[in-house]
Amino acid sequence: MRYGYFDDANREYVITRLDTPLPWINYLGMEDYFGLISNTAGGYSFYQDARLRRLTRYRYNNVPMDMGGRYIYLRDNLSGDFWSPTWMPTRTDIKDYSCRHGLGYTIIGSTYRDIRAEVRYFVPPGQNLEIWDLTLENRSDEERPLSVFSSVEFCLWDAQDDATNFQRNFNTGEVEVAGSVIFHKTEYRERRNHFAYFACSEPIAGFETQREAFLGPFRGWEDPRAVAEDATTDSVRVGWSPVGVHRLRETLQPGENKRIIYVLGYHENPPDEKFDPRGSQTINKRTVMAVIETYLQEENIDAAFAELHQAWDGLVGHLQVRTPNEHVDRMVNIWNAYQCMVTFNLSRSASYFESGIDRGMGFRDSNQDLLGFVQMVPDRARQRILDLAATQLESGGAFHQYQPLTKRGNEAVGSNFNDDPAWLVLAVSAYLKETGDWPVLDELVPYGNTPGTETPLLEHLTRCLQYIIGNIGPHGLPLIGRADWNDCLNLNTFSSQPGESFQTAGNGGGRVAESIVIAALFTLAASELAQITAHVGMTDEANRLQGLADGMAATTRRYGWDGAWFLRAYDHFSKPVGSTENEEGKIYIEPQGLCTMAGIGIKEGLAGRALKAVETHLATEHGIVLLQPPYQQYYLQMGEISSYPPGYKENGSVFCHTNPWIMIAEAQLGNGDRALDYYLRINPSKREVMSDLHRCEPYCYAQMIAGKDAGHFGEAKNSWLTGTAAWNFVAITQWILGLRPDYDGLRVEPVLPQGWSGFTATRLFRGVRYDIEVKRVGPGNQVALAVEGEPVAGTLIPIPRADRVSVQVTVG
Ligand code: BGC
Ligand code: NOJ
Repeated sequence: MRYGYFDDANREYVITRLDTPLPWINYLGMEDYFGLISNTAGGYSFYQDARLRRLTRYRYNNVPMDMGGRYIYLRDNLSGDFWSPTWMPTRTDIKDYSCRHGLGYTIIGSTYRDIRAEVRYFVPPGQNLEIWDLTLENRSDEERPLSVFSSVEFCLWDAQDDATNFQRNFNTGEVEVAGSVIFHKTEYRERRNHFAYFACSEPIAGFETQREAFLGPFRGWEDPRAVAEDATTDSVRVGWSPVGVHRLRETLQPGENKRIIYVLGYHENPPDEKFDPRGSQTINKRTVMAVIETYLQEENIDAAFAELHQAWDGLVGHLQVRTPNEHVDRMVNIWNAYQCMVTFNLSRSASYFESGIDRGMGFRDSNQDLLGFVQMVPDRARQRILDLAATQLESGGAFHQYQPLTKRGNEAVGSNFNDDPAWLVLAVSAYLKETGDWPVLDELVPYGNTPGTETPLLEHLTRCLQYIIGNIGPHGLPLIGRADWNDCLNLNTFSSQPGESFQTAGNGGGRVAESIVIAALFTLAASELAQITAHVGMTDEANRLQGLADGMAATTRRYGWDGAWFLRAYDHFSKPVGSTENEEGKIYIEPQGLCTMAGIGIKEGLAGRALKAVETHLATEHGIVLLQPPYQQYYLQMGEISSYPPGYKENGSVFCHTNPWIMIAEAQLGNGDRALDYYLRINPSKREVMSDLHRCEPYCYAQMIAGKDAGHFGEAKNSWLTGTAAWNFVAITQWILGLRPDYDGLRVEPVLPQGWSGFTATRLFRGVRYDIEVKRVGPGNQVALAVEGEPVAGTLIPIPRADRVSVQVTVG
C-alpha cells in the first residue's frame, strides 16, 4: 500500500494520506541552521548542534506521536471553528491534504470550509533562519473573517538540560517583543550572545510568549484557549515555557488570496554589543533587523527559494542517469544523493530516531558518509577530512566521536574501536579519486587537536595503518578492541551491569580477540595507500604498503576462512565467531562482502563460495540479513549483539549498510543480475508499494529492516541517518553502473544485468562533463570505450582537454 507518490519531474515525494505509519520527515537547511519537518509539520530546528543550540522543542516518543512543530491555526470567526492546515495538532477533518517533501523544502496544504491554505517551509541558502510562507485562499462566495495564529515552543538551548533540569529551567525563560517580532533570549543576560526570533510580515492583533497563557490550564496544542476564544493576553513573563505566538486578523473576500510570511531565526551578537542601550538588558536588535526585514518580503523569499532550487540542481547534477529501471533512476538522480547530503549535514545526530542529544560526529561514520557526497561538495569534503584527521591520536588511533561545535574528540562516548583508522584512509582515497587534489596530502594537521603536533596528512594515513598493524593478535589478524564496524560485536566487554553502555563498559581492549573485518579493511586501505604513495613517487613506501596488504590477505585466507565462507572473528578465548562450529551466528555478512572487496580469495575461488553462502543462508526477499542464526540469549562474551531480540538490529536484521558490500562483491565477480537484484530488494522506492509493511519513508534508506527471525519481518526502522545511504550510492553508481572515479581519471566498467540494453549518464568529474552512453552488445561484461568516437584502450578515460566529452561504451 502507498501513502503518496513520487513526482520525479519536481523531485518531490507527495504524501496524500494523513495516516502515514510514522511521521515521514524531511530536512531543511544546508549550512549551519537546520530543521526536521514531518508531513504534518512536526519537528524542530537548531543551529549547528542539535543538542547544544536547539531552537525549538520537540517531544520524542510522545503520544500522540510527532508533537512539537511549526504549527499554524486558522479560526473561522463566523462559526468559531478552528483547524490547522497541516492537520497536526488539531487533527481536524481537512480535505485535499498533501505534503510535498522536496530537496530542502516542504510544502503542506489542505482545504477546510472552503479556505485553502498552503505553507511552504524552507531555509534560504546561507541564512540562519527558516521561512514559513503561508498562502490563504477564500474559495467560498462569502466574505470570511479569519484569525491566524502561529506557534512555536522555544527550547532553552541545551536540549538535554531542557528536558530534565526543571528546577532551574522553570525560572530562566526570557523574551522580548518588538512590533511583530518575538525574541527568545533565555540566558542572554549571562553567557550567551545568541537569541532566536520569530517574526511575521503582518501587523499583529495580539501575541503570547507564555505557553500556559496560550494553551490555558490543562489544555494541549490541539485546543489552545487563545485560539478557541480568539483572545490573546500579550503575555511577557519570566520563566516557565516561552513560546512564540502571533495572532492576526484577516478578512478574505470571495476568491481572495493572502500571503503571510513568518521568519524563525537564530542570531549572534558581538559579545561587546549585546545590549542596546549599552548597560541595559535589552537585546541589541540593530544587527538583525535588516535580515528579518529582507526575509519578510515576498520577492526576496521567492528569489531565495529559486536559489535553493538551483543549489540542488547543481548538487544532484553531478550525476544523472537514465536506465531501464525507474527505481534506480529515482534514487540515483534524486533521493539517494539527497540522503547522502543529509548524512553529511547531520551525521547521526537528529532524526525521528536520533534525538539530537546523544551523538556527536562519528569518526567511522563521517569518513564513510564522505564516499556518498564527495562528488557534490568536494571542498567541504576536504575540510571534513582535515577536521577528522585533527581528532586522530598520535598513536594513529582515533577518538570515536567529536562534537560538531568544538570539533574536539569526545572520550566519554568510547574509544578503541580498532577499525576507525582504516576509514580515514578510505575517505582520503575516495577524495583523491574524485578530485585529483594531491596537495591535500601535504596539509599540516595536528593530532588530538593539539597545537604543535602537526604533521602532513599523509603521515596521518600512515599512522592509521601503523595503529592496526601494531595491534595484532595470536593469528596475525588485527585485534578487534572494543568493536569494529559492528559496534555491537563486543568480544572484550563482558558487561553484566544493567544499563551499562556497551560503548564504554569494560576496558575496551584485550590482546586475543581478532577481527576479520578489520583484516579486510586493512588490506583495502593498505593497497589504496600503496597506490597513493606510488602516485607521489614514494616507491619504497608503496612497495612496503603493498607487502603489508598482501601479507594481511594471506593471513586472512589462512586463518579467516571457515571452509565455505569467511569467519567473522576470534573471541576472547580464541574461539571462532561466524563459523560452522558455532550454534548461533554461524555466518556473518560483513566479512563476505569486505574480504571480496579487498580482493581476498578472489582468484583462489573463496570469494565466489562466500557469496554463494550469502545467497543460501542470508539473502531474503527484504534484503540480506546480518547473520544467521541470530543469538537467542544474551552472551557475556558477545556483548550488545546478543542484547537484541533475534532479527533486530545487529542480531540478524537486514542491516542495510552491509548489503551494498555484497552488491559490490557480486559486481566484482561479474554477477550484474544478482548485484541489481540485491540492490532492488532494499531500494526504498521499490519498496514503496509495501509502505504499510516497511513503514518508514519510501524516499530514503533506513538503517535496518527487521529480519526473517523477527516478529515484523520487513518492517524498517531508523531512517535517514545511516551509512546505508553512502554505500548504496557507491554500489549502484560505481560498481553496477560502473562509473568509478580513479586516481588518474574516470573509469567506466559497468556490470549490467542481462536484461538491460544499456543506459545513459551525465557525470561532472574534475570540471569536465562526460556524456556517457552504454550499450549492451553481448551477454558478457567485456567493456570497450570510445571517446568522441575514438576507441580508447582499457576502461579508464584519460582526463580530456575539453570541458565536455562524449563517451561511447559497449558491454558484451
Ligand atoms: C546500535 C548500533 C550503533 C551503536 C553506537 C548501538 O546501540 O545498535 O547500531 O552503532 O549503538 O551508537
Ligand atoms: C551504526 C553506527 O553509526 C555505525 O558506526 C556502525 O558501524 C553500525 N551501527 C553497525 O554497528
